[in-house]
Amino acid sequence: MLTVRTREELTAATRDLRGPSRKVCLVPTMGFLHEGHLSLVDRAHDLAETVVVSIFVNPLQFGPGEDLGTYPRDEARDLALLEARGTDVVFVPTVEEMYPAGDPQVTVSPGPMERRLCGAHRPGHFRGVLTVVAKLFGLVRPDVAVFGRKDFQQSVLIRRMARDLNLGVRVETGPIVRESDGLAMSSRNAYLSGPERTQAVGLHRALSATAALFGGGERRAAALLAAVEREIANHPLLSLQYAEVVEPEGLEAVNSASPGDVVALAAFCGTTRLIDNVELS
Ligand code: PAF
Repeated sequence: MLTVRTREELTAATRDLRGPSRKVCLVPTMGFLHEGHLSLVDRAHDLAETVVVSIFVNPLQFGPGEDLGTYPRDEARDLALLEARGTDVVFVPTVEEMYPAGDPQVTVSPGPMERRLCGAHRPGHFRGVLTVVAKLFGLVRPDVAVFGRKDFQQSVLIRRMARDLNLGVRVETGPIVRESDGLAMSSRNAYLSGPERTQAVGLHRALSATAALFGGGERRAAALLAAVEREIANHPLLSLQYAEVVEPEGLEAVNSASPGDVVALAAFCGTTRLIDNVELS
């Protein structure tokens, strides 16, 4: 495994590992890797001969008062995990390497979907995500890229960016990987205290309750969301930021749910903001 820290090294490494019958798959991450990330690396190996992983905590996607300064990091552990999963190239740039001229003047606008779901509560977040992902696509020029389904709105926006801007990258989504009690894996789970960790499973319980209701024939979004709110209320350390039933293309809220629609939510567990979602089927 090659670990590279500059844009020049990255371009040279991917040029050497690319070929007419060698596709390149990129897995962008912010590090502090868990099994969810590693499942994306496994998926990348199924999709391409060369697997590139980036580790970069992107300041552009953090708002004032968010956790940029405390975001968990453990580069040595991340590199060992990636090596064990057969990664070919790991790109670990500094902020100066990614943004040599400071904050970029030209950024990628997420369009109207920016105002939905998490975007409504994290102004500027998805502009920061799309901008860094577009830069990574430009540097690596991957044939395919894989993102986790837990960040549902992010995966929808990145697919849409690749399509609208003809970036020539196929965007794939890997399933949510969960702890044994159902909590979606997230680097931010490291922030949770013991009691918070116990109650964090309420997000998954809330989504399971609403999915079961849908499975039983309930179609009214208001009733599906009431089930979410009831379950969250059973967990006093959780406070719901939003829960919505949306269609998966434009993320518009629906009044009557159909198979393929998604229930997405964000909740604070203590001071830690967690997200999760379920596709209705
Ligand atoms: O999902 C993440 O970890 C980040 O948003 C991403 C896609 C690596 C961009 O910084």
